[in-house]
Amino acid sequence: MCGIFSYYGKKKNAPEIVIEGLKRLEYRGYDSWGIAYKQDSEIHVHKETGKISEFKVETADFKDSEVSIGEVKEKFTLSIGHSRWATHGRVNKTNSHPHFTEDKDIVLVHNGIFENYSEVKAYLKKKGHKFITETDTEVIAHLIEEHLKTHDFLEAVKMAIKEMEGRFAFVVISKNSNKMVAARKGSPLIIGVKGKEYFIASDIPAFLPHTNKIYYLDDNQLCSIENGEIEFFDMDSFDPIEKRIVEIELDIESAEKGEFPHFMIKEIMEQKDTLNRAINQNEDQILKVADAINKAYGTYVVGCGTAGKVGMVGEFLFSKIAKKHINFSFGSEFTSHKPFLTNKTLMIAISQSGETADTLEAIEAAKEKGVKIVSIVNVESSTMARMSDIVLPIKAGPEKAVASTKATTSQIAIMTLLAYACAGKLYEGKQLLINTASQINDMLNPRYEEHIMGIAKRIQDVESMYIIGRDVNYPIALESAIKLQEVSYIHAEGFAAGELKHGPIALISENTPVIALVSNDEYKKEILSNAMEVKSRGGYIIGVAPENEDVFDFWIRVPDTGNTSPLVNIIPVQILAYQLAVLRKNDPDKPRNLAKSVTVK
Ligand code: M6R
Repeated sequence: MCGIFSYYGKKKNAPEIVIEGLKRLEYRGYDSWGIAYKQDSEIHVHKETGKISEFKVETADFKDSEVSIGEVKEKFTLSIGHSRWATHGRVNKTNSHPHFTEDKDIVLVHNGIFENYSEVKAYLKKKGHKFITETDTEVIAHLIEEHLKTHDFLEAVKMAIKEMEGRFAFVVISKNSNKMVAARKGSPLIIGVKGKEYFIASDIPAFLPHTNKIYYLDDNQLCSIENGEIEFFDMDSFDPIEKRIVEIELDIESAEKGEFPHFMIKEIMEQKDTLNRAINQNEDQILKVADAINKAYGTYVVGCGTAGKVGMVGEFLFSKIAKKHINFSFGSEFTSHKPFLTNKTLMIAISQSGETADTLEAIEAAKEKGVKIVSIVNVESSTMARMSDIVLPIKAGPEKAVASTKATTSQIAIMTLLAYACAGKLYEGKQLLINTASQINDMLNPRYEEHIMGIAKRIQDVESMYIIGRDVNYPIALESAIKLQEVSYIHAEGFAAGELKHGPIALISENTPVIALVSNDEYKKEILSNAMEVKSRGGYIIGVAPENEDVFDFWIRVPDTGNTSPLVNIIPVQILAYQLAVLRKNDPDKPRNLAKSVTVK
């Protein structure tokens, strides 16, 4: 949620470097964007609403701007930038970052929420500070300015941080200092380094074209860069910290669209490979986690959105395969479970980004009670991974489309492995998953896409659609609904098929599309009856199933894979959601009102 990219170094085209970096972070927020840079002891700011990917430096019109984005003639160039997902204040240029004090003494970009900003703002107003936006970020700039009256720049930032509550990351520059200061408390910030040049970003792929050498800024740490040298400090004690440079292996290509028109379809197609990478987990780690689950007095699986639905899938898988009860909770609802936590409880946190605020908060609450944390996470440098006792990396590579696809199936695969391992049948589970991955490989071909396109064209103008599933495919019905909602904007809802007759069936009218996830299991007969009940009321049944059934108006074939049916059932719905988005002229990669990682509560 919100992307930060900043540059400190000798390159004269620093603003351009920052704009290009922000483009690679746009998936984190695309309501508006802005940059600032220092020139002739002044800080110049440029802001725009809309998507930065549509902005071309060469043809840009800076008539109403105070800057022209050209060469910066300083010894070292300081430039900061931000792409915004609005939290405090409407989407407009004023509320866009960077934010600054009246004469741009202090200019900063910020991600996260400064929770006690209104009290601090009231205090600063009494001191004579004047504010021009409704944002919490502007208050940070003024708070630092207030401390500048009695401290130097770095000290003023440190004093301001002491007064700030909430999760945040920010990068700040000052008119009267050559320092660039960055702080991290609960929101990601990583520093790329190339000699005496530094790239500070919310995510690694943003600076990969420049360097693969990084410093991890951990939570509750800050850094200060001046004249090409960097120093790190602890946020509580302000003691200096020694850090070493880490070389990472991510390649740029995996973070680019390549020949695909959108990241979403690229990532759907990548599932051929990503699943195999997920299955190929360190067996000792899987067995260690399975042992911890078997020994724990209660296991909680926590996640949000799609990762939450994977947690629900896990509940069913553990019951089915390992005859074991595990509890699922959305991150945002976890506090009600707090009374039941002890140091014998285990938590499995699931997340693509590893930065979701609600899940992080659940982890914090659990850690307070001595709970051991296992995370199933894609971004291995994330806050979540660093807070966990054991990390099971899903190894899906960068997932850029806001709608999660390849991370979802990789997470389901790992939950399946764990369930089998808990039942003492890891090898059997692994074999089943390897076979499933190879069947998915066969599914993902242009003919399959074309077939699904037939149905997408048929239903592209509907107002509502529903998805039904039973048992382990009930959460997949919920996940299908999320996929369809977020990129097609069609009203879509998932139901436990048996629940339809208790109310939702009243929503069915002539030609209402209903996707029925029909696996070859003990619930097949019941779900086919539920589909028939819908059809009798005029519903149009799209069956996702290994076999064609009389009740289906349209059949999407999936392989019969037994306990891995969630994996094969979600894939055609991902494709359908993508195609509907394209047909309805929506941007599938950057759906309205959303952001890739949700770092606010
Ligand atoms: O990064 P996370 O997996 O923790 O994100 C959780 C949700 O925000 C995320 O799954 C969201 O629901 C996706 N956009 C769904 O496609």
